Amino acid sequence: MEAMPKDRSAAPPPAEYLPQHIGIIMDGNGRWAKARGLAREYGHRRGSEVFMDIARYCKRIGVRYLTVYAFSTENWKRPAHEVAVIMQMLQHYLDDSEQYIKEEIRLRIIGDRTRLSAGLQKAMEKAEKASEQFTELTVNLAVNYGGREELLHAARCMAQECVEEAKDAAQLDFDDLERHLYTAGQPDPDLIIRPSGEKRLSNFMMWQSAYSEFVFMDVLWPDFTPQHLNEALWEYVGRDRRFGGI
Ligand code: FPP
Repeated sequence: MEAMPKDRSAAPPPAEYLPQHIGIIMDGNGRWAKARGLAREYGHRRGSEVFMDIARYCKRIGVRYLTVYAFSTENWKRPAHEVAVIMQMLQHYLDDSEQYIKEEIRLRIIGDRTRLSAGLQKAMEKAEKASEQFTELTVNLAVNYGGREELLHAARCMAQECVEEAKDAAQLDFDDLERHLYTAGQPDPDLIIRPSGEKRLSNFMMWQSAYSEFVFMDVLWPDFTPQHLNEALWEYVGRDRRFGGI
């Protein structure tokens, strides 16, 4: 590949080197708001606008899958008001179908929906159906998502199949498990980005991230721009991915 540019924020790497699938842990909304003397919800509001900008940018440069962590299985521990604000924002985004229809983005929602309101569950189904014809960029919104919950869910499905279809548990393989993940049929994330200076996975795509490259950045999510994404992408293309080989 051509040499790294001096300013890695100015443009993305050539399309053929881009990751097919990017995961983003959208972190730092609360700190961003606090630094401005605002309530935390303003950080989430700005964060949701940044999400839309980044999704649009991913589509423009040719990324095929983008997974964003919007609400984890652990986020229920937050104050009820904050939880309600995030849920309202998700509902609003899903109901306002023009946003992703106009952009021709396919939306998928990953996570355990059973704990979400009936209205949100309905909006999720509707948004998935309304955008299923789009093929360039698929955005997975992770809502009430946790990697451990996803694996437990897959294990339960497999156990049920063993009982109902008299399958031999000793014959189960990786493909059987992957069929029951929320991301079934999608490639694993090549790159996972976590802004805000935190350096951990926090229960995000635990199975799928086995060979992902991680890029941790100091910027807070509400300040994240396509230029930051370009930097992360150049960092990614400079990595030597060996998948356990030499
Ligand atoms: C982490 O920052 C962020 C969240 C738990 C929520 C992320 C949600 C959004 C960006 C909105 C989603 C909506 C749409 C439409 C995609 P934090 O609150 O933990 O930040 P902190 O660590 O600074 O407190």
